[in-house]
Amino acid sequence: MKSILDYETVSLIDEDDALEIIDQTRLPGTIEVIRLHTGEEIWNAIYLLQVRGAPAIGVTAGFGLYILMKHTGAETYDEFMKELSEKSDYLNSSRPTAVNLSWALKRMEEHVKKVAGTELGIGLDDSGFKAITNAEAFNKEVLLTAMRKESELIKAEDIEVCKKIGEYGLELIKDGDGILTHCNAGQLATCKYGTATAPMYLAHEKGYKIKVYCDETRPLLQGARLTAFELHSAGIDTTLLCDNMSASLMKSGAINAIFVGCDRVAANGDAANKIGTSVVATVAKRYGIPFYVCAPTSTIDINTKTGDDINIEQRKPEEVTEMWYKERMAPEGVNVYNPAFDVTDNELITGIVTEHGVLHAPYTESIAKLFS
Ligand code: MRU
Repeated sequence: MKSILDYETVSLIDEDDALEIIDQTRLPGTIEVIRLHTGEEIWNAIYLLQVRGAPAIGVTAGFGLYILMKHTGAETYDEFMKELSEKSDYLNSSRPTAVNLSWALKRMEEHVKKVAGTELGIGLDDSGFKAITNAEAFNKEVLLTAMRKESELIKAEDIEVCKKIGEYGLELIKDGDGILTHCNAGQLATCKYGTATAPMYLAHEKGYKIKVYCDETRPLLQGARLTAFELHSAGIDTTLLCDNMSASLMKSGAINAIFVGCDRVAANGDAANKIGTSVVATVAKRYGIPFYVCAPTSTIDINTKTGDDINIEQRKPEEVTEMWYKERMAPEGVNVYNPAFDVTDNELITGIVTEHGVLHAPYTESIAKLFS
């Protein structure tokens, strides 16, 4: 029987001018694959978390921008780039914290500029980059083909990068380990393997008897609905706990290491991830448990100096007061605090596992070195 791991998180359906995703809001009860055609559909799917997780959002944005440009009426290069930039800004406004969204959109735009220069001779002159509106040189088919290829490349790279993170992360795991994770940084948040789950999948493949504990992750339950679902489907020994149980679990000695994903790592190593992550990191420090953040370099934002500069998405109060309950579970009119992410201070992080190896403190130096 087909398991959740046999489905593609995001794929391009070129012949239908669409991208296809698993609607993650319906998991684990229903595996429904849906197609997104319009800008509004793509924007909503990202905002509503039908597709979520930093790398998967990036891949969605790449495919989305290509789909939205496919039927452009632009007759000049300037018109094409203006439309591309407007559509990119629109998609970028769907969620602010995961840097992979703006990273992928920017990468698509830069690639179009590069191809316009190398293949069409547009936009390049001796003084540097200057757009020229040469109707004859402009060829939108060339630019669209380049966009399609680049978006597929973003996806293919995501799979490779996650595998590499898995290999480096595997070196931090021993047979028999108990591992805790928070939210879903799994296959459903990427195109395969996940980031935080990649070492777990590889350890399982190697025959290690690991025991993975998943925080349910209030308020949207990504840990219960997604991580527990995919790890359990893979045959990994999986245990679910409420978020407020993790300290007692850590104190009990059941946890040897913690692996989490990440939405944006600042240049000093502060890392924004799902709300509650910094609580886990703080308690882990108290009990001497290594705390690893798994992050592709596309999630490291060297233009953001520290965690204080990361824009944290605030979400609707109903996610806390009503969602999942038969009836409202809080008094009408009460104030609700519902940030989607928090920032884990760099000093709580034992290592940042990237596709190029594990970074250690001082992170300002190890991150700068990685990018140099
Ligand atoms: O709000 P979400 O579900 O998109 O939050 C996801 C996370 O916090 C993940 O840990 C993060 O995006 C890393 S995914 C590899």
